[in-house]
Amino acid sequence: MSNQSTRRNFIRKMATGVAGMALAPEVMGAAGGNNRIEELSRNNKYGPADTIRLALIGAGGMGLADANTAITVPGVKLVAVCDLYEGRLADARKIYGNDIFTTRDYKEILQRKDIDAVIVATPDHWHKDISIDAMNAGKAVYCEKPMVHDVSEGAAVVEAQNRNKVVFQVGSQGLSSLGNEKAKELLAAGAIGKLNYAEGFWARNSPEGAWQYRIPEDGNDKTVDWKRFLNKYPQIPFDAKRFFRWRCYKDYGTGVSGDLFVHLFSSLHFITNSKGPQKIMAMGGLRFWKDGREVPDVLMGMFDYAETPEHPAFNLSLRVNFVDGTADSTYLRLVGNEGSMNVEWDRVTLTRNKAYAATDDPLLATKLNKDNPLNYERKKMLPPDTTVFNVEKGYKGAHFDHFFNFFTAIREKKLSVEDALFGYRAAAPALLCNDSYFTNKPVLWDPVKLKVVS
Ligand SMILES: NC(=O)c1ccc[n+]([C@@H]2O[C@H](COP(=O)([O-])OP(=O)(O)OC[C@H]3O[C@@H](n4cnc5c(N)ncnc54)[C@H](O)[C@@H]3O)[C@@H](O)[C@H]2O)c1
Repeated sequence: MSNQSTRRNFIRKMATGVAGMALAPEVMGAAGGNNRIEELSRNNKYGPADTIRLALIGAGGMGLADANTAITVPGVKLVAVCDLYEGRLADARKIYGNDIFTTRDYKEILQRKDIDAVIVATPDHWHKDISIDAMNAGKAVYCEKPMVHDVSEGAAVVEAQNRNKVVFQVGSQGLSSLGNEKAKELLAAGAIGKLNYAEGFWARNSPEGAWQYRIPEDGNDKTVDWKRFLNKYPQIPFDAKRFFRWRCYKDYGTGVSGDLFVHLFSSLHFITNSKGPQKIMAMGGLRFWKDGREVPDVLMGMFDYAETPEHPAFNLSLRVNFVDGTADSTYLRLVGNEGSMNVEWDRVTLTRNKAYAATDDPLLATKLNKDNPLNYERKKMLPPDTTVFNVEKGYKGAHFDHFFNFFTAIREKKLSVEDALFGYRAAAPALLCNDSYFTNKPVLWDPVKLKVVS
C-alpha cells in the first residue's frame, strides 16, 4: 500500500473509530481538546490440557524471573534446574521444592526424555552451544537475548532450528507486549506518516544498574564449576568477579549493546518489519565504572536502514549511559513526517503534528486581515494531537505474553514470534556495535544474506 493510501486509511479509521482510537475518549488537560487516553487490552485464550515440562539452564537473576513467569502460563511445569553455582541450585530447591532435578551439567537435562522445553538463561557466551545441543536433543528452546555472543555464531543457531524443526524463541520480551503490537499497527496505518528516524536509550545511574552485582561470600572454586563456565575462552584461575559480574568481560558478555541495544532492535524490527540496518557505527568510552571492566559504560550507536519493501529508508540512533544523572529510564521513539510515537511495553504515546498557517509572518498576516488590518487577531499555537494508549488494568505484561507466545508455538507447532532468524537479525547490529567501537570503523552488514560486508 502506498504511503498516501495508508495515511488516508488511518485518517478514515480515526474518523470511524476502527483503529480503536475513539473507543473510550478521555480529554487530557484543559488546553488540549485533541488529547485522548485509550486502553489497550488482551484477550488470552488458554491452551490445551497437555502439560509442557520445562527445565531452566542458568538459574541467576533472569533465569529465575523467566522460570517464575513461565510457570504462570497454564499447563507448564518446571521439573529441572541447571546452574554452575551451588548457591543457585540450593535456592532453586528452596523455591521449587526438593523433588526438582538439579545438576551442574546441562547435558544431563538434555538427556531426559520427560523434558519438552528449556530456558537458556546463562551468560551470553554459552547461548549458542546450549541452544544448539538442546535443539539437537529435540527440545524447544527459549534462549535469552542476545541470541549469540558473536555475530559469526548466528547462522549455526538458525541452521539448527531449521534442521530440527523445533520451536526456538529469543527472550526479548518487549516485542510480545501490547505496546509493541499497537505501535506496529499504528505505523502500518500511517499514523506518523513516513518513518524517517528512530531513537532509543537506556539511562542508568547505580552500581547494580552498571553491573556491579553482589558477590556471594561462599562463591569460590569449590561451589562454582569454574572450568565449565570458561567454555572455550582462556583457562585462567578462578575469579569471582568474572563469574558473578561476567557482563563486564568480553569473553563472556556482549557489552551494553549486546545487553541492552538488542531489546530496542527487537522491538524496532518487530514494529517496522525490518531485517536490519546496513551500516553500523559506534562510539563511546569507559567514563566512570573503572572496576577492571573491558567494555564502555557510555555507548552511542548510529544505524542506517536502507529502503526495502517493508519500510522507507530511515536512521536510528541508540545510546546507553550508565552514569546518567537525568533519571533511570528507557525510551524508544519512532518519528515520521507527520508525527511520532513513544513506544513502551505498556503504553504508546502518539503525537500527530497539526499544520497551521504561519500567522507570525507580517506579510501573511496583513493578507489574512486585509479588510481590517488594525484589528489583527493573532492565531494561537495549537497543541499537538496526542493520543495515549495505556494497557488496561490487570495486564500481565510483556514477559508473560512472551512466554504465552512461546508455549502457544510449541502447542500449535508453529514458528515462534522471535525465532532464530529474527533473533540473529536483532543481535547482529548490537554485536557489530562492539566491533565498530573496538576497531574504530563503521561496519557494513547485509541483513538479508546475514553477512558482514566490510
Ligand atoms: N530479557 C531480559 O530482559 C533480560 C534481563 C536480564 C538478563 N537477560 C539475559 O539473561 C542471561 C542471564 O543473565 P543474568 O542477569 O540472569 O545473569 P546471572 O549471572 O544472574 O545468571 C547467570 C547464571 O548462569 C549460570 N551459568 C553460567 N554458565 C552456565 C552453564 N554453562 N550452564 C548452566 N548454568 C550456567 C551462572 O551460574 C548464573 O547463575 C543473559 O544472557 C542476559 O543477557 C535478559
